[in-house]
Amino acid sequence: MGIEFTIKSGQPSKQRSSLIIVGLFEGKKLTAPLEALNKASEDFIVSNILKRGDLDGKIGQSLMLYNVPNSLADRILIVGCGQERKLQEKEYKDILVSSIKALSDKSITEAISFLTELSVKNRDIHWRVKFAVEVVDDLLYRFDVYKSKKETGRLRRMTFTVPTKRDLAVGERAIVEGQAVSRAVTFTKDLANQPPNVCNPAFLADEAQKLSKRFPSIQTAILDRKEMEALGMGCILAVAQGSRNVPKFITMAYHGGKKEGKPIVFVGKGVTFDSGGLNLKDTPNMVGMKYDMCGAATVMGVLQAVAELHLPVNVVGVIAAVENMPGGNAYRLDDVLKSLSGQTIEVNNTDAEGRLILCDALTYVERYNPDCVIDIATLTGACITALGHIATGLLSNHQPLANELLDAGQKAYDRAWQMPLWDDFQSGLESKVADMQNVAGSAFGAGTITAACFLSRFTKKYHWAHLDVAGTACGFAGSDKGALGRPVPQLMQFLLDRA
Ligand code: BES
Ligand code: MN
Ligand code: ZN
Repeated sequence: MGIEFTIKSGQPSKQRSSLIIVGLFEGKKLTAPLEALNKASEDFIVSNILKRGDLDGKIGQSLMLYNVPNSLADRILIVGCGQERKLQEKEYKDILVSSIKALSDKSITEAISFLTELSVKNRDIHWRVKFAVEVVDDLLYRFDVYKSKKETGRLRRMTFTVPTKRDLAVGERAIVEGQAVSRAVTFTKDLANQPPNVCNPAFLADEAQKLSKRFPSIQTAILDRKEMEALGMGCILAVAQGSRNVPKFITMAYHGGKKEGKPIVFVGKGVTFDSGGLNLKDTPNMVGMKYDMCGAATVMGVLQAVAELHLPVNVVGVIAAVENMPGGNAYRLDDVLKSLSGQTIEVNNTDAEGRLILCDALTYVERYNPDCVIDIATLTGACITALGHIATGLLSNHQPLANELLDAGQKAYDRAWQMPLWDDFQSGLESKVADMQNVAGSAFGAGTITAACFLSRFTKKYHWAHLDVAGTACGFAGSDKGALGRPVPQLMQFLLDRA
């Protein structure tokens, strides 16, 4: 379970708590709350502690004090905040992280943090509190469903402060939004971290049904294989046919906006395991392929948060859920598929399954007459080569939509970086026998862009953006971080800004 967050304003020395957290800038420059504590202690903190040189104020440093005179708190944690003028999003995040890490081996269950009073360049109180909630929840996340021994003794309750009583209302609202976002992030992580023998397409469909039970404002519908055949979703069915686990096509609709208002549509890649199919991956590339449904998990997390916050927007979430396996009935290289759009596709690599399931889903969503469509997919390893695990790849056929998503990513500190979707890249997809092939030759390069070019052939009728989250949805191999819940914060910011 997540922790409980509250908001408060008041004198640091008057706080009766097991711990209060305050900042110190580089060069031993006191922040206002630390100044107040020092004054109340009759200069004890400066002359007895800081003068000895145990702490300079660099980010990453911290020092725990006990028995500080005239303070009602059991302990005071001083956290390094670096240079005051250089405090931006990254620094603020690093400071919050170091304040929580300093508590990791202690049995502290509640704390009051004054770090939300730091000024961050271009960011207001609302942002500081909301972001702090998200950072702390993110850091304390554990996936221990399958651990016989669970970790115990963790932080249960965190209070963030605002400078004056007038700021309390803004702070409360920020906590509500931050908690909705971080609950969505947690939901997304929990789903994505499930092993693929549990989380198959039917499991994803069940989770979507459960979501609509919890939130009657969400209507879920599941299409099974027969219905997908009747519609003509040839590409999703081809990818699915090598697996014993049947595919599911999931739609979730939330109506919070105007009755006739066009919906914002999210499409998630839900490959519950990507073995590569007949183009079987080798071991280092196959481990972690349970995360190939992170796009789907993101869509569900976003719907949960939208329903929780009763946002005045119309949102549709669509998920193509399949498992990509080799087998006697698996789809082959050289197969020609007929997509829902009617366009034909020659398969030249069964490991480029994501774009195949997405193309049918992207055609299907035309029926919603969307305001815009955003797909989220762990689509290409090439995106990791280009942007690492820092930035999500963004490609779009409508620059205003791209700008909105870039801004939302910056604000949520869950950033994307745009790549070009120029027509010059389309030629890599030409096929001799069909309307296109699913993969451009490796010599053509630009794997992330050509994948998006493939998708763009199915998104001509609406404004569309594609988020390639291959590098950002989960931690890199060898890091034990698992699913990260990105880009839930970015998409929630996009919706909050719209609403
Ligand atoms: N799911 C993978 C992409 C991926 C790779 C995500 C690594 C996360 C980490 C996707 O289905 C895939 O296999 N893509 C191929 C495309 C290639 C065959 C053109 C790839 O990136 O190698
Ligand atoms: Mn693949
Ligand atoms: Zn894949």
